[in-house]
Amino acid sequence: MEQNLPIGIIGLGYVGLPLAIALAKHFEVKGFDISSKRIEELHKGHDRTHEIHEDVLRSTSLKVYDDISHLKDCRLYIVTVPTPIDDHNCPDLSPLESASRMVGGILKKGDIVVYESTVYPGVTEDVCGNILQDTSKLQCGLDFMLGYSPERINPGDQIHTVDKITKVVAGQTPEITDLLAYIYGKMNGDRIFKATSIKVAEASKVIENTQRDINIAFINEITTIFLKMSISVYDVLEAASTKWNFLKFYPGLVGGHCIGVDPYYLAKCAQNSKIEPKVILSGREVNENMAKQCADFIKNICQGPRVLILGLTFKENIPDLRNTKIIDLKNHLVQLGFQVDIHDSHCDPHEAKKFYDLDILTHLDQIKPSSYDCIVAAVSHRGYMELSPDFIESIIQPEGIIFDLKNMWSHLEFKKRYVKL
Ligand SMILES: NC(=O)c1ccc[n+]([C@@H]2O[C@H](COP(=O)([O-])OP(=O)(O)OC[C@H]3O[C@@H](n4cnc5c(N)ncnc54)[C@H](O)[C@@H]3O)[C@@H](O)[C@H]2O)c1
Repeated sequence: MEQNLPIGIIGLGYVGLPLAIALAKHFEVKGFDISSKRIEELHKGHDRTHEIHEDVLRSTSLKVYDDISHLKDCRLYIVTVPTPIDDHNCPDLSPLESASRMVGGILKKGDIVVYESTVYPGVTEDVCGNILQDTSKLQCGLDFMLGYSPERINPGDQIHTVDKITKVVAGQTPEITDLLAYIYGKMNGDRIFKATSIKVAEASKVIENTQRDINIAFINEITTIFLKMSISVYDVLEAASTKWNFLKFYPGLVGGHCIGVDPYYLAKCAQNSKIEPKVILSGREVNENMAKQCADFIKNICQGPRVLILGLTFKENIPDLRNTKIIDLKNHLVQLGFQVDIHDSHCDPHEAKKFYDLDILTHLDQIKPSSYDCIVAAVSHRGYMELSPDFIESIIQPEGIIFDLKNMWSHLEFKKRYVKL
């Protein structure tokens, strides 16, 4: 089987763009995104996700388009479109379905379509495969083949990049699995695990993120218990971690579009099999409730109404605002009568306005002394970790409180009241 196939990447977001750039070092690669704005920005050398530097974008052989017909000569298509949930926490497969229809429109005999989006077992073959078949009038498994290779990158993480992490691959036949192992192996130094089937590969990804969610839920639950007893969970975790087999997880507001979303995909898959996913959904419930628990705690300890939250993105050192739970924290605090400001210099303030109707602060040095009664360290952006105790204390009033959700300032010495989770 021909190995050096021209590759088309469908969806150039956090996952698709780094993948396309990495593969373009070894193969002819074209990228497609339905967002013309995204393509225009990439042509100008700007990656709004901050994953790819301008110099790399300018020097890559990757070609990007907002019209999929430019990808009609590709022989291997890799789909990396979003897999969100709807308002009822049900998987919303519409981006995958629409991408599959588009690929189906240009599919030829002998082509291979690989999905990287996170799904529950069965989606690639039973949903996407059928759409590709219907649109192309070709037969799946005969005229064209399917594959699945979950993406494991962690945006903002400069160590575990797409060219260094082990890739799980699975094809409809052993030959397709071998071909995918060859192609992805070129990009990541042959760090490949061949799964026994597409469904196994799909399941492996969705359980990775669900396992993480459940572990964090346990820590969040003990955090709320210990908060009532004035015991810091971080101190408890430090002590417990000295046992060789203790698993290290930390409390947090679980947001974003992976950890807080993917368990609902697994839950849906369980419900399809008439199994009630008790552990999965109770983990979700605990984590969804964490912002309220933090707001209630602030109400108990804070003397005045003015609160500054440091950080809006769903996690540290990235600009991504999707499904950030800082919004829940802010809304609960407002309901409790607080006046809340939010600072973040990583995200785009226009996006904060557009998505959440928020006017955020982008410069800490503009804050006047004693402006707040409570400062909440909510997202451990590098810049916040480097703040001096003098500066932190200067922006709160003399009786003000420093509330550290992330344990990022526990090594500092404060004269004012410092409380960590
Ligand atoms: N971001 C992560 O940390 C991460 C990590 C591992 C896996 N994943 C999974 O990878 C998938 C993609 O996530 P992401 O973070 O890259 O999403 P993203 O929103 O950053 O990017 C998706 C891109 O796809 C484009 N798109 C949407 N529909 C399209 C269509 N029909 N045709 C072409 N382009 C289309 C969007 O315009 C966007 O640019 C999801 O399933 C996600 O769960 C994400």
